[in-house]
Amino acid sequence: MRLLVCGGAGFIGSNFVRGRLRGGEDSIVVLDKLTYAGRRENLQDLEAEPRFSFVHGAIEDPPAVAAAIEGADALVNFAAETHVDRSITEPDAFVRTHALGTFVLLEAARERGVRYLQVSTDEVYGSIEEGSFTESSLLDPSSPYSATKAGADLLVSSYHQTYGLQTLICRGSNNYGPYQYPEKLIPLMVLNALAGDRLPVYGDGMNVRNWLFVEDFVSAIGHVLDHGVPGETYNVGGPDECPNIVVVRRILELCGRDESLISYVTDRPGHDRRYSLGSEKVRALGWSAATRFEQGLERTVDWYRDNAWWWEPIRSGAYRDYYQRQYGLSLDR
Ligand code: NAD
Ligand code: DAU
Repeated sequence: MRLLVCGGAGFIGSNFVRGRLRGGEDSIVVLDKLTYAGRRENLQDLEAEPRFSFVHGAIEDPPAVAAAIEGADALVNFAAETHVDRSITEPDAFVRTHALGTFVLLEAARERGVRYLQVSTDEVYGSIEEGSFTESSLLDPSSPYSATKAGADLLVSSYHQTYGLQTLICRGSNNYGPYQYPEKLIPLMVLNALAGDRLPVYGDGMNVRNWLFVEDFVSAIGHVLDHGVPGETYNVGGPDECPNIVVVRRILELCGRDESLISYVTDRPGHDRRYSLGSEKVRALGWSAATRFEQGLERTVDWYRDNAWWWEPIRSGAYRDYYQRQYGLSLDR
């Protein structure tokens, strides 16, 4: 299959591209704006592959999209602003990319009859105290990030209803693994623990997330792309849930550090207490998660420990200013 992968230079997108190129015969064009979170380094090992090419451009730019989609059989859209904290301080880019960007991609796919898969998130359902969300649960997003992702999902569904476009939506729970930008809980805590910096925990540390190893999410997305029913949405939840403070303590143990590094900091406004997705529908399609949280977390810590070439340039650049603004804390050199 000839695939256009938007946002393929980010964390999950680059893992998806790597998996599809190694495991099959697809040819892949990545279209990516290379925001702070999108990096050519994430695709460095694939650059020599003849079935891979890269286009630098934004999904909200119709000429860039028209050039990149040429000859594609399917489009997978990972492109997004993805950090909840940044959506609270600077929501503009979230509206532009999720609303306008998704619209431009849908129009391009509609004009050419290209199958369209939107990568979405459990956050569109909001927080749940007990039990798990299903695909028919109410959308009740809490942050500018999740609200604009929900809006994009609704627009995608409307292109199936109105124009008959072959659309699919995959809503994933919290991903972790190699190549994740260290603004998200797990890579941030791992790098701080390795460096001996403080670990900033929001609120009481008892918010719960449903952890999904990135290789499992990308295998689910590939499976839905190949076998999903057009017009349908599929939830993809991880096999284990865990309160943040338990995750942080385990990371400290794996890095050989003690709990004195933990700093409780001011809570995130509108902080969702718990996420949980039921994955029965995607399991009925033939997918299941292969990696339990304990094993995936160990692999993730090992990857960051062994790949300082990847994160050292991030940690020594503009990230330090972001970190200072966000937490009022400095990082050691
Ligand atoms: P990421 O922030 O690591 O990567 C996003 C990528 O999109 C980057 O390469 C960035 O340069 C690119 N991008 C951003 N705006 C763009 C634009 N306007 N045009 C073109 N490219 C643009 O994000 P991620 O964690 O890999 O998330 C990928 C997708 O998966 C997102 O849609 C996100 O909502 C969804 N998702 C993420 C998680 C998670 O836990 N990380 C869980 C479920 C769903
Ligand atoms: O659930 C899927 C979503 O998971 C994705 O759609 C988002 O793109 C992704 O960013 C993620 O959102 P979260 O807000 O759940 O992830 P984050 O890593 O930012 O935070 C996880 C939990 O850890 C959350 O309860 C907030 C807490 N936290 C986070 C950071 C960055 C801290 O306690 N301290 C921190 O420094």
